Amino acid sequence: MGYAAPSSALHGKRILLGVTGSIAAYKSAVLARELQRRGAIVRVIMTPGAIEFIAPLTLSTLTDHPVYSDFTENKDSGEWTNHVDLGLWGDVFLVAPATANTLSAFVQGSCDNFLQAVHLSSRCPVCVAPAMDLDMFAHQATQSNLATLANRGVGIIEPDSGLLASGLEGKGRMLEPAAIADWLEIWFYERAPLKGKRVLLTAGPTQEPIDSVRFIGNHSSGKMGFALARALVQQGAEVHLISGPVQLNDPAGVASIRRVQTAEEMMIAARENFHTYDIAIATAAVADARPKQRSFTKLHRNELPEVIALEPTPDILAHWGEQKKAHQTVIGFALETDDGVASAMSKLKRKNLDFIVLNSTADRGAGFGTDTNQITIFDPNGKAHKFELKSKTEVAQDIVQHLLNYLTL
Ligand code: C5P
Repeated sequence: MGYAAPSSALHGKRILLGVTGSIAAYKSAVLARELQRRGAIVRVIMTPGAIEFIAPLTLSTLTDHPVYSDFTENKDSGEWTNHVDLGLWGDVFLVAPATANTLSAFVQGSCDNFLQAVHLSSRCPVCVAPAMDLDMFAHQATQSNLATLANRGVGIIEPDSGLLASGLEGKGRMLEPAAIADWLEIWFYERAPLKGKRVLLTAGPTQEPIDSVRFIGNHSSGKMGFALARALVQQGAEVHLISGPVQLNDPAGVASIRRVQTAEEMMIAARENFHTYDIAIATAAVADARPKQRSFTKLHRNELPEVIALEPTPDILAHWGEQKKAHQTVIGFALETDDGVASAMSKLKRKNLDFIVLNSTADRGAGFGTDTNQITIFDPNGKAHKFELKSKTEVAQDIVQHLLNYLTL
């Protein structure tokens, strides 16, 4: 569905939604919708009991995907549903509502229905939202099952108190769908691998003034840097973005954004408190040189110099590499017009980088302005990781994944 704010911790998450046979199953439709609204991809598994309460067609229509409830997909052909694949697909197995019976089956490791088989074969974390009558919930057996599951690392989404389907009042109502989604968002956020990491990121071009209306610049759109900012936010990072002049809105969820024009201004922002950052990434296409002289008014045609003398701009990335302490990771980009391998490797060494991302305008769909990019990441030992042509959003996710692998080496 993908219409969520990308800052939601549920954005892009694959959620296996297990629905079991409680009256609260009618809320699963709203829950599936709410998870999708926040950017999650939802697949639904139902127990035979759940099907008595809500039609699989409702959930398959909402999630635009078949609902799984049985080992055999097609009784005539004998085609079967692979519970192992499903169990490996999810980032989380969320069982909502979870009946007392299913909780007990999870504790026992029973495999009496398809949902229980998925539970046993899943490698992802499991969260359960119990829903039952107050006495069933309070029963020692249920409480001890929940304690056992919690001990195993299962997330327990405590039920609410209130009016129950039985007419009694007490604790046992499944939490409302929006509250479950909130709970899951915090749960993912707490586990986000870059939680607590401060990232400094440069993006976009710089403009080096000739006079008050003209400048030396380049075609950088800032799209790669902004996509990277979003991908880092999604992994829980505290992102501080310094951007040259671009036509892009602030990426949702960044902690701060500073808009600058020149390399000098970018450098001033990039030096500030550099040692308080854990990670620094230079995606900006900083001008390598600027006019030695600039006019603060518009030069008339006859005043324009025949030759514009240039001087080098400060190299921000080289400065970071020089200042880098052991706790810091510094990543650079190299945009080349040929295959660029030698040049990327030399930048990586010269600027003391942890790794460098190479993109070449020689590759179709890569480089400035496009919505796609094709990259190769080089490690300091010269190892190359080549990626396919992808959207800049996916490329950003690949880079962040490489960073995560690098940090956990
Ligand atoms: O040497 P070159 O400019 O090609 O290196 C590219 C890398 O260095 C990019 O990561 C770019 O953001 C960074 N850079 C910088 N400051 C400069 C020039 C380049 O941070 N003045």
